[in-house]
Amino acid sequence: MNTPRILMVDDDSDALLLLTRILGQAGFSNVRATPDSRELIALYQELQPDLILLDLMMPHLSGLDLLVQLQTLIPEGSFLPIVMLTADTSPTSRRDALRRGVHDFLSKPFDPAEVVLRIKNLLKTRALHLDLKEQRQHLQEVSMRLLEAQESERRRVAHELHDEIGQLLTVVKINLQCNQRRPAISAVPEDVASIEDSISAIDHAIGRVRDLSFDLRPAMLDTFGLIETLEWCLEKAAAHSPLEVHFKHDEFEARLPVALETACFRIVQEALTNAMRHANACRFDVQLRKGDGKLELIIQDDGCGFDSESAHHRAVGGASLGLLGMEERAELAGGHLEIESKGGKGTTIRAAFPFNAPTAAALTTAAVLTKLHSSNGEGGNEASQEKASPALGDRA
Ligand SMILES: Nc1ncnc2c1ncn2[C@@H]1O[C@H](COP(=O)(O)OP(=O)(O)OP(=O)(O)O)[C@@H](O)[C@H]1O
Ligand SMILES: [Mg+2]
Repeated sequence: MNTPRILMVDDDSDALLLLTRILGQAGFSNVRATPDSRELIALYQELQPDLILLDLMMPHLSGLDLLVQLQTLIPEGSFLPIVMLTADTSPTSRRDALRRGVHDFLSKPFDPAEVVLRIKNLLKTRALHLDLKEQRQHLQEVSMRLLEAQESERRRVAHELHDEIGQLLTVVKINLQCNQRRPAISAVPEDVASIEDSISAIDHAIGRVRDLSFDLRPAMLDTFGLIETLEWCLEKAAAHSPLEVHFKHDEFEARLPVALETACFRIVQEALTNAMRHANACRFDVQLRKGDGKLELIIQDDGCGFDSESAHHRAVGGASLGLLGMEERAELAGGHLEIESKGGKGTTIRAAFPFNAPTAAALTTAAVLTKLHSSNGEGGNEASQEKASPALGDRA
């Protein structure tokens, strides 16, 4: 935080003048004040303050009325300190104000030293909060880059396996088949049998290479998209296991962003593996729906269920990766994922994503823009960060 922006509203102009002087002497130069409570919201939007000083008793709109309006504007999860200026020190009004989101109080008449100390403390907490948020965003960016790098490496190896190794094995198989038909060989039954063994070993290797390549990253995910890949992949699972598999989906006019397709595919892949490995399920259902402006993915199995909270704790402790990976993928795609499971009652995984999933490159751009804004003193706070993200939904 460069120069903290402070916004004050108090119908008592003398109080405003005194506070402006106290703050100026303490080095706070970016202070805006208004005696008209009706102007606060417009000033809040213009200044994007780091701290607000709010009188309690004012004509038109009281401090408590303004608190209600501010709570709808302050980005969720952010820490914007609001200090109530009041001569009314009754415990009821303090409790009322605290309940509505006030962080501290300054009693009139003001004690200049106390004013400065309280404001400095709150601004320090806000700065720490912003730092934490920035570091979290950086970590998310790194995780997203790692996942993107992992996907592109898988894509490369899958392609190499399928197109290079698969082709070479096919050539060897054709050569063996040609040799098998040569008179010198076809006359010797042992030679024919040995070539037949080699051909069937090569067929097996070709099948393994194809499966490995698909498991790494199915090429059809990039070519045909999520729906067709899931259809194919679930049909294949149903054909090779006793599981009854159902897939329902809405119609989507256009392809979803790559990051979103990859996240959904990997989540279904892990859920399917878990259902096969742990659930002892008979039925596995996947639904992909256009929810309320969101993409909803619902995955259910009717297996033995599990205690998802303790499995989560064990996973955080390093016991496993699958559940955490699903949650992380959903979060990095801008969504969230919940697991509902109870012993004997099966497992339901619900994930919801915005259609414009962020990419690592877009997150970096947003972070750089935010930094530029804040170093220009142009409201480099959460509100502007939040404005930067909706435009991040390009295909990666
Ligand atoms: N659908 C399910 N039905 C029953 N138990 C499940 C299901 N999904 C997960 N579990 C339980 O939760 C645990 C953690 O799942 P998680 O996917 O994180 O790990 P894992 O499958 O054991 O290993 P991996 O890290 O390879 O995925 C599993 O070991 C299993 O006990
Ligand atoms: Mg697993």
